[in-house]
Amino acid sequence: MENTELPPRPLLFDFEGVSMVHHFTDNWEKVQNFQARPDDILIATYPKAGTTWISYILDLLYFGQSAPERQTSIPIYERVPFLESYFHVIPPGTELADKLTTSPRLIKTHLPVQLVPKSFWEQNCRVVYVARNAKDNVVSYFHFDRMNKAHPEPGDWSHFLQRFMDGKMVFGPWYDHVTGWWEKKQTHSKTHYMFYEDMIEDLGRDLDRLCSFLGLSPSVEEKTRVMEGTQFDKMKSNSMTNYSSLPVMDFKISPFMRKGQVGDWKHHFTVTQNEKFDEHYQKNMSNPNLQFRTVV
Ligand code: A3P
Repeated sequence: MENTELPPRPLLFDFEGVSMVHHFTDNWEKVQNFQARPDDILIATYPKAGTTWISYILDLLYFGQSAPERQTSIPIYERVPFLESYFHVIPPGTELADKLTTSPRLIKTHLPVQLVPKSFWEQNCRVVYVARNAKDNVVSYFHFDRMNKAHPEPGDWSHFLQRFMDGKMVFGPWYDHVTGWWEKKQTHSKTHYMFYEDMIEDLGRDLDRLCSFLGLSPSVEEKTRVMEGTQFDKMKSNSMTNYSSLPVMDFKISPFMRKGQVGDWKHHFTVTQNEKFDEHYQKNMSNPNLQFRTVV
């Protein structure tokens, strides 16, 4: 009989100065030596910033018309491989990426900028980074870790919030991640830095900016198709984008497509937690040019 039992939840450990679990370091040699191609597009995010949303947007922009069958037969995590992932339930991210025959290849990473394989810089690849405000990001991360057995046990909300502030999260501190990539934009001009809040506020405007960065000029019909297909409810009910086929997640605890809103943090933070968080935030966000909105 097939063994469907999941391995125990992994523990956090320090990896090159960043908290990690083994699922993202077990294949490190292949990740580090990964050969990017000049037309690859690297989708980089801190976990829970809207990775799947931007992945699907890019996939539809590039392949929505030329390969419509892709949308109904291949889950998003195979169309857009998660480079550093190494799970027992699907092939490693490097292998999935190497097998892609499409051009451009869309490749996802949650790595902080300093750990990204150097070939992406050598090949001068385009990077699309999406950042989400810390408060909604940590709430989304909390619910994700409740249902995702490939991450450590989250504990209760107040414990998790403290861990987030301490930077003891899988992929390290949010503060360093969003700032590191923001600063990379100054030297790697082929970086497009987006905000989840902007996408929620006016996706059409953000899509225009993204297309201009990518050198794409979709027709009005194509743009409408992308905007409609990537609506939260559509993605939530789409088995190719809602992760329902990935057995490490327990949807009885929480769905992957949970709320898709800006401001849900208000239902989680107590007044005291919010004050403490704000104070800590001021001390940890050093770049005055990087500003987030917690409401839209
Ligand atoms: P919530 O947990 O706040 O609902 P990631 O893909 O990086 O793991 O991010 C997941 C978060 O993005 C979840 O946030 C999810 O609901 C949200 N999301 C996914 N698709 C979305 C969409 N089409 N519109 C708005 N939010 C979306």
